Amino acid sequence: MKDESNNRKLGPNDACWCGSGKKYKKCHQGAEAPGATSTPAARKDPLILDEFERNAMRKACRVNAELMDYIRDFVQPGITTREIDSLIHQWTTSRGHTPATLGYRGFPASLCTSPNQVVCHGIPGDYKLRDGDIINLDLTTIVEGWHGDQSETLFVGPVSEEALALTQCSFDSMWAAIDAIKPFSKVIEIGRAISAVAKQYGFSVVKEYQGHGIGRVFHQKPHIPHFPDAYQGQQILAPGLCFTIEPMINAGTWKTVLDRKDHWTVYTADGRLSAQFEHTILMTETGPEVLTVTKRGPQRGHKFVSPATVA
Ligand code: MF3
Ligand code: CO
Ligand code: CO
Repeated sequence: MKDESNNRKLGPNDACWCGSGKKYKKCHQGAEAPGATSTPAARKDPLILDEFERNAMRKACRVNAELMDYIRDFVQPGITTREIDSLIHQWTTSRGHTPATLGYRGFPASLCTSPNQVVCHGIPGDYKLRDGDIINLDLTTIVEGWHGDQSETLFVGPVSEEALALTQCSFDSMWAAIDAIKPFSKVIEIGRAISAVAKQYGFSVVKEYQGHGIGRVFHQKPHIPHFPDAYQGQQILAPGLCFTIEPMINAGTWKTVLDRKDHWTVYTADGRLSAQFEHTILMTETGPEVLTVTKRGPQRGHKFVSPATVA
């Protein structure tokens, strides 16, 4: 298909193509004037996806969501996180796709496994799941060069009241953020919605690790803080922008510590529990489209229950 995306003729008073909400003449027109150094290829903001690129992201995210539906039932007492990693690796590569985390900045595995007091970026290994654990599985798949990224917190047997509430809070806060945004909203609306839910529960929101733009590149602009950040929060969510919302909610302090040996695993500073959910979102002209919805996982409005003790 011929790409006509650079052939649009905008008048000076039209809204700029970049989604800033400013008039073209006040925004990118100057850079495109005759004699300007920008090339035609540089005129399209790479963060703003056209229909072809949106479909590529839809596909990558659909594959990643299928993988989430596949792995959920393996999360049972006795399985090691390394065994989960090999299942993920096998499923992905046998379909001709690539686990994005494997080798990413030296990360050694095909997913992140973050149990209990681990906030994020846990490395699969010898840890054996036990009754009462909660564990976040964060999956990212590269499909034909595009990234799908999502995570869920799962229960291993019956869990504590606190673990249940924390998981619900993380899930509800992610959906509150999705429901709070529309085309041209500011990023700060995401952090406001998440913080309001966390406050209701009496839990805290992690600050150092954030959502992110996503596409051909795993982590790209914009930053998506899960708290109301005055600076990053000014970014506009224009139609065509693709990004993640992935609130990490802590039972105690929001502060975290990095593992001194592996330099990846992030723990809560006070050793209390942390829970997280993540979706990849495409902002469209009519509102946010959640690209990583699963067929069998928790849907918007889900109420978590602790699995019953086996008699
Ligand atoms: N999937 C994580 C995210 O949501 C990033 C993991 S990067 C890794 O952004 F290297 F730790 F795997
Ligand atoms: Co992410
Ligand atoms: Co992720």
